[in-house]
Amino acid sequence: MPAKIIDGKVIAADLRARVADEVGRVKRDHGLTPGLAVVLVGNDPASEVYVRNKAKQTEAAGMASFEHKLPADTPQKDLLALIAKLNADPAVHGILVQLPLPKGLDTQTVINAIDPAKDVDGLHPINAGRLANGLPALTPCTPLGCIILAKTVHASLQGMNAVIIGRSNLVGRPLVQLLLNENATVTIAHSRTRDLADICKRADLVLAAVGQPEMVKGNWIKPGATVIDVGINRIPGADGKNKLVGDVAYQEVLGVAGAITPVPGGVGQMTVACLLVNTLRAASAIKGLKPPSV
Ligand code: GUN
Repeated sequence: MPAKIIDGKVIAADLRARVADEVGRVKRDHGLTPGLAVVLVGNDPASEVYVRNKAKQTEAAGMASFEHKLPADTPQKDLLALIAKLNADPAVHGILVQLPLPKGLDTQTVINAIDPAKDVDGLHPINAGRLANGLPALTPCTPLGCIILAKTVHASLQGMNAVIIGRSNLVGRPLVQLLLNENATVTIAHSRTRDLADICKRADLVLAAVGQPEMVKGNWIKPGATVIDVGINRIPGADGKNKLVGDVAYQEVLGVAGAITPVPGGVGQMTVACLLVNTLRAASAIKGLKPPSV
């Protein structure tokens, strides 16, 4: 039997609708309009699409969206000055600087400049450290989305053998902590891991976040396992146009796995929905309200 396809589009739409309901409630009851500022430096075409999409979804959820587009040759001090202004702006509750940044800008210095209370990407060392210590924290959006998708298949992840492939700050590392919080048994594999196929084959839950097109093969997967594909890779298609593929050889794995996320239409859909969740959470915390129910 082919795997159940985990429909990120439907699950993300449901989450966005719940965020919009909560936004309506905090507006009505507390006069609070959560605001998200997105900063794009340069004109990377994929980043431009992501940023436009974030602004659209933010407004659709009833929140305020502030877009800041800066030229690729922006000096670091100008970007830091903009972040300082957004940190001080009471209408802004979330700040996201789209990555990757153009050459000449130091990503970590820029992330460190964001007020941790407004760090809706969850990348500031304060938030990463709080997450690692099991404390409440703003958490990176893509890993949050992965957990939500996995939990549509398994009500509890407790005791599951989870294998993450990839150790980035944006996905792999925070996933370890989120899965530990769910009481999963976690293995993190990376480019130097030996016997990766064997390690994957033992997993009940595989989360691929390496950025290698179709790397995870059908014979790496335990029959019935759940596979979450974080990869978004553009490769030449048979028709000469680029096509989007994940880090998982989808057609092969479909015949073995119990459940799988497609690319597109899986994890990618969840990232923006979780960004809206984080903006609502940040706004509520800054205003001294109790955490929202989403
Ligand atoms: N570029 C790709 N994904 C992300 C993300 O989640 N946050 C930021 N800031 N940049 C990204």
